[in-house]
Amino acid sequence: MMAPVPVSSEDEDSMRTPIPAAAPRKTHAQALARWNERYGAPGFLFGEAPNAYLVAKADLLPPQGRALSVADGEGRNSVWLAGRGLAVDALDFSPVAVAKARAFAAARGVTVDFAVANVVDLAWPEALYDVIAAIFIQFATPAERAQLFERFKRALKPGGLLILQGYRVEQLGYGTGGPPERDHLYTVDLVRAAFADCEIVELRGYDEAIHEGSGHRGMSALLGAVVRRPPA
Ligand SMILES: C[S@@+](CC[C@H](N)C(=O)[O-])C[C@H]1O[C@@H](n2cnc3c(N)ncnc32)[C@H](O)[C@@H]1O
Repeated sequence: MMAPVPVSSEDEDSMRTPIPAAAPRKTHAQALARWNERYGAPGFLFGEAPNAYLVAKADLLPPQGRALSVADGEGRNSVWLAGRGLAVDALDFSPVAVAKARAFAAARGVTVDFAVANVVDLAWPEALYDVIAAIFIQFATPAERAQLFERFKRALKPGGLLILQGYRVEQLGYGTGGPPERDHLYTVDLVRAAFADCEIVELRGYDEAIHEGSGHRGMSALLGAVVRRPPA
């Protein structure tokens, strides 16, 4: 497992009415406090069911190997990956979320190696993972995102898969989840350019109603991508 390091990052995701203009960015401490508060409420903020895009890509997953769930929250995605037979590491900067995720994994009878860590500052491994799941990680600023995407590529084994789900900029008009910062949101062109040196197995923007707890609820402007690190 990668070593946890001190945190500093932006917040993401709040149910809200559509906002046309950029909201002020939260400091790291504000973001962490907000996420801890949100996860401190009873129940599962994004539900217990794994993300539907991730589940839809089940046939692409290897039957065994090592997976990482990035900014895993309360564990819905890591627990599902572990249930498929993968050895799973999971990271989130919220200790409240990670405590809930540990309890969730135990209740489901699966093993996940959880850590409280900031994905932005982490000492990322090289060529360790067969699969990386990055589901709604839009706390990242453009500079952090560019760095993170490069780290994902390097942390994958040659031939390994990144599964990415997030909101597109059109999500600002729906206001059904996701960050208020336009530049944290994806476009198909942005993701295509970021992974131009990889095999893009799938890249699509689509609008769909999702029901992931109270955090992501209603018609949403989504992006789904599956990217393969080129074989050595
Ligand atoms: C929208 S939630 C998604 C959680 C999870 N991926 C899911 O789909 O249920 C975003 C997550 O990012 C985490 N997060 C925010 N900033 C982070 C950072 N710098 N490092 C690690 N996790 C972070 C939050 O605690 C939160 O769990």
